[in-house]
Order: sequence, then structure tokens, then C-alpha cells
Amino acid sequence: MERLQKIIANNGYTSRRKAEELIKMGKVKVNGKVILELGTKVNKEDTIEIEGNVLKINEKKVYYLLNKPRGVISSVTDPENRKTVVSLIDTDERIYPIGRLDYDTTGLILLTNDGELANLLMHPKNEVEKKYIAKIEGVLSPSEFYGLKKGIVIEGRKVIPTHLKVKKEIENSSIVEICILEGRNHIVKKIFESLGHPVEKLKRESYAFLTLGNLKSGEYRELSLKEVKKLYSLK
Ligand code: URA
Repeated sequence: MERLQKIIANNGYTSRRKAEELIKMGKVKVNGKVILELGTKVNKEDTIEIEGNVLKINEKKVYYLLNKPRGVISSVTDPENRKTVVSLIDTDERIYPIGRLDYDTTGLILLTNDGELANLLMHPKNEVEKKYIAKIEGVLSPSEFYGLKKGIVIEGRKVIPTHLKVKKEIENSSIVEICILEGRNHIVKKIFESLGHPVEKLKRESYAFLTLGNLKSGEYRELSLKEVKKLYSLK
């Protein structure tokens, strides 16, 4: 027996907080009856319906690390019928990406059906270090480089890179390695855009202790139990 909001969050429908809101709004039914009580205990045999959708209880948790190609959307479905990261993985489980990479960004993305881990890693308080390689237009001046190293305000909030290095300067572009802890949408592009050096190409090389290893574009692997445990310990 588990609390209703926990079962909803753990099975990937939404976060626990949002699940509580849905319950309070009368949008959750257990075995056909609307439940308004937050602490209600349910078990796996009960039928849970949220906003008319029957919650699928995951029996088996799966975890994948994908090297996302360019031109693939980081979601489960796409109204415009573009290829999704989920469609690249051969599984019957209802998986979804942990966070997102832009359509034109390549590199490391995790997918799972474990709502508890996904919610934990995506929580704004959970600072997971991500490493990106950006090809930017032009060359960073020393003041731009050191200014960025100290931190840059993007949409009212400061981002301080945990690592910044110019790897190469070629003609009118540069290859820059940058590590950041936060996960706001398009954050790397916004950082360089604000300095007047738009990102031409972006790749995520690592997520916490996980790296792409020798996975080629479009290839993926399952995480080991040890890796999953380590991700849980990041909180
Ligand atoms: N920052 C971006 O600008 N794009 C991504 O895909 C990821 C981080």
C-alpha cells in the first residue's frame, strides 16, 4: 500500500506536488470513485484514473543513456510528427526523457520510466553538472571570457559555469567547453547569444558522472544498477 500521490509520481505521470494538486481538484479516481483525500493508500491492483487516463503501473524500471542525433525532439510524442528520442529506443516500457536537449542539440540524454528518479534529477534544487561543447560564432575576448567565468545574468538569474575552456579558435568561430549546474531551457545558447557569439553547434558530453563513452550518434545503452544507485545518491 502506498500513498496515492506517490504512486502517481513514481509512475511518471507528473511530480508529486502536481499529483497532490490534481487530487485536490477532484481529477483523480480510484476504482471509479473520486478521491479528494491526499493520504489515501492504494495498491497496485487498484485502478487509478487521472483526468480520464488510466495510470499504467510500471513493474520494471528501465534506464537508457542515448547519444541524441540532431533533428530529433526530446519528447514522447510530437504533434508535428518529428522523430522523438523515445522512438529511437527499442522498449515496450513507457519511457520519457529526463530533461531536454534542443532539436538541433546532440549528445547525452537519459530516458526512463522511473518517475521518482526523473523528478529528483529535474528538481531545480538538484544541481547536476552537465558538460557541453559549443561551437560559437567568433572568438571570446579576454573580458568576455573572464566575465563569463565569474558568472553571467540570464533572464534575471546568474549562471556561474563550474568549468570554462576555449578548446580551439578556427577562423571566425571557437570551440568552447562549458559545465553548468542548471537546466533552464536553451541556457547555453542564451549565455553565448548574450555575449554576441551565437551557438552554431551544441553537444552535451556528460551528465553528472555519465559520459557518452564510445556511443555513436543514435546509439544507446542501458544504465547499470550501480549507475542508477549513484544517480539516486546525487540528491
Ligand atoms: N542549452 C541549450 O541552449 N540547448 C540545449 O539543448 C541544452 C542546453
